[in-house]
Parts: sequence; C-alpha cells; structure tokens
Amino acid sequence: MKLAERLKGFDAYLGTEMNLRLTRMRAEGRDVINLGLGDPDVQPSEVQRQTLADACLDVDSHHYPSFYSPKPLKEAIANWYGRRFGVACDPDTEVIPLLGSADGLFHIHTCLLDVGDIALVPDPCYPAYVAGVKIAGGRVHSVPLLKQNGFLPDLEAVPADVARRARMIWVNYPNNPTAAVAGEDFYRRLIDWARRYEVAVISDNPYSEICFDGYRPPSFLQVDGAREVGVEFNSLSKAYNCCGWRTGMLLGNRDIIAAMNKIKSHSDRGMFYPLQVAATESLNGPTDFMQARNRAFQERRDVVLDALTAMGVAAHRSDATFYVWAEVPEGSGTSRDFCFKVLEAVSVWMIPGSMYGAHGEGYFRIALTHPSARLAEAMDRLKRLIG
Ligand SMILES: Cc1ncc(COP(=O)(O)O)c(C=O)c1O
Repeated sequence: MKLAERLKGFDAYLGTEMNLRLTRMRAEGRDVINLGLGDPDVQPSEVQRQTLADACLDVDSHHYPSFYSPKPLKEAIANWYGRRFGVACDPDTEVIPLLGSADGLFHIHTCLLDVGDIALVPDPCYPAYVAGVKIAGGRVHSVPLLKQNGFLPDLEAVPADVARRARMIWVNYPNNPTAAVAGEDFYRRLIDWARRYEVAVISDNPYSEICFDGYRPPSFLQVDGAREVGVEFNSLSKAYNCCGWRTGMLLGNRDIIAAMNKIKSHSDRGMFYPLQVAATESLNGPTDFMQARNRAFQERRDVVLDALTAMGVAAHRSDATFYVWAEVPEGSGTSRDFCFKVLEAVSVWMIPGSMYGAHGEGYFRIALTHPSARLAEAMDRLKRLIG
C-alpha cells in the first residue's frame, strides 16, 4: 500500500499528540498544568445543556440532519450577526452552519484552490490553515505577522506577482496565537487590496466574544464591500462555552457559500439535530453570561502578565482572546527547547511559537484556560525555573 504524497507536506495536529503525552505524565503521578490547548474550563449554561438534553431525548430527533429544515439555525446565525455586528445576511444564500468552524476552514481550500494555486497564509497562524491548503493541493505563501506591525499583515509587502496569482488570503482577528486585534481601518485596506488583486478574503473570527476593557472586536463583514470579496467564519465554541459541540458558521459571499454547500452535501449530512436545536436556542438566548466570563479571563490575563513582567518576560496585554503571546527569555534556546524544558522541569505545558510558523520562533503561547489560582501556581513554577 502506498499513501498519498500530500501527507508528507504537513504534520498531524500537535494538540492530539501533546494531550496523549500529558495524560501519560499524569498517569506517572505528575501534576501537569496544561496551558496549551485552547479549550477553557467554562461550561455552557444550564439552559443550553437542558435544551440539548431534551432534544436528545426526543425520539424524533435522530434522523439524518437533512430530514429537518436548516432554516431556524440559519436564521438564528443571521440574526446574531445582525444584533452583534449590524451585518444583514440572507439566511438562505449567505449563511451556512458548520460542524465547528474547523469543518469549514478545512473545506474552504477545496472551494477556492486548484492544484498549485497560491494561498496567502499568515505566519504565525492556527495550523489548520497550512494543512488545509496542502491537503487541497495548493501552495502556501507565508505572510509574516511581525511585532512592529502589531501582528497585522503588511499587504503592500506581498510581491505584486504573488498577489496577482493568489486565490485567497487568511486573516484571523482577534488572533490566535498572537492575541492581536484588528480595527475596521485594517479591513478597509484589506478589501481595497483584495479587489485590486482579485483575492478572496477568508476571515476567521472565533474569538469575537472574548474581549476585555470595553473592547468589542469588529467583524470583517461589517465593512463596506466585504461580502463582494469574502466570507467570515465564526463559532459557538468559545463565544458560548461549548467547544465540544462542534457548532460553527460561515457567512458572506454567496458564491463561496454555494460552493461550501456543494462540498458539504458530500462530506457530511449536516449537524446532529439536537445540536441544531441547542445552537439555535443559544444564539437566540441571553448573552449576559459573557460579561462575567470575560471578566474572569481578564483577571487571568492580568495574573499571568503581571507574573511574566516580574520575571522580566516580555508579553503584550491584549484586549481579546484567552491567550498570552510572550517572548522566550534570552539564553533559553529556541521556543521548542524552552517549552519542553519547562514541561520536563516544572510540569507546565505552554506551546512553542515555532509550532505556529517560522515567525512564531522566539515566542510561546499561554492559554488562560484555568482559574487564576492555578495560573498563579503555573507562574510560580516558571519563576522557580527562570526567575
Ligand atoms: C483561530 C481559530 N480558528 C478556528 C478554530 C476552531 O474552532 P471551532 O471549535 O469552531 O472548530 C480555533 C480553535 O481553537 C481557532 O483558534
């Protein structure tokens, strides 16, 4: 048997491998603090869980999802974008529910790339973008996200001949892993640039509701002209505390939505009906729980940042996401050397920046996925090692 050559072009998702390793370490009796995985210790509300449970208990809920009308969920998504961002999308032609945004951000490459086509991908970035391009047979052209540019892409630095041949560009703000944010002015420049070169813009916005200090991240789609050039992914995972539900969405450009519908009609049969019901109710329901949740993330951010600053480790105090992007202390080797040394010495796992791309080298990412006291303990352990 010979496996496809394309498998050599990308690595398996690191989170899966690291979870196995950390589980083994725990089985050996080590008290591991996992600040790697972006899956926080927050839960969906009782109403959300009850809605899901009731829908599961209904004997009529268990057909193929295509048996049920997708309209209520599509309308709930469109209405949520209307209320939250002032964006009016037609639920029939400009919205598609996804099995987590990961589902769509994998297939989007098949929608847009023929073999050998260029995709512009930020570096560092969420690793699924790179893998998705390669699996679809496309070619990655990296767009560096540099500290001196606020971790925004310098669009004018993309060579014109590359931009002309590129079919799509990924943007992700609030950003994973750098925690940087982008304003409407950035999206305006991006739309002008995308029109000039006829490049589809793919905005990934799953952290839109994880924000602090009164900051409210915008949507790419709220800027004039966005829908002509692109689409936006969003997700209930982080916004509604339900990463495990696998409930996401894609909104915007009709041609891309139609292409995604076509591909997904073959790749899956839609979302399990009880999840459709629970996602619909969640999106139509109250959002006040987000304020208390975000206050807790903000407090955690400050606990970690204050401790890092006291240790002399540089990190940016971001207004959004539950990540801290910090600089590897001088003399600690590569980000990989540093993070694995910390794991072995004090049982704290943080993700090396190089795992998000070459320009992530020199950084590491901390996920604020534990209560403040546990984060403080992780920082104490780090201090013992480097402080
Ligand atoms: C930037 C980014 N995009 C997409 C996803 C996937 O989210 P979902 O749970 O909706 O599949 C994540 C998850 O961590 C992410 O960080």
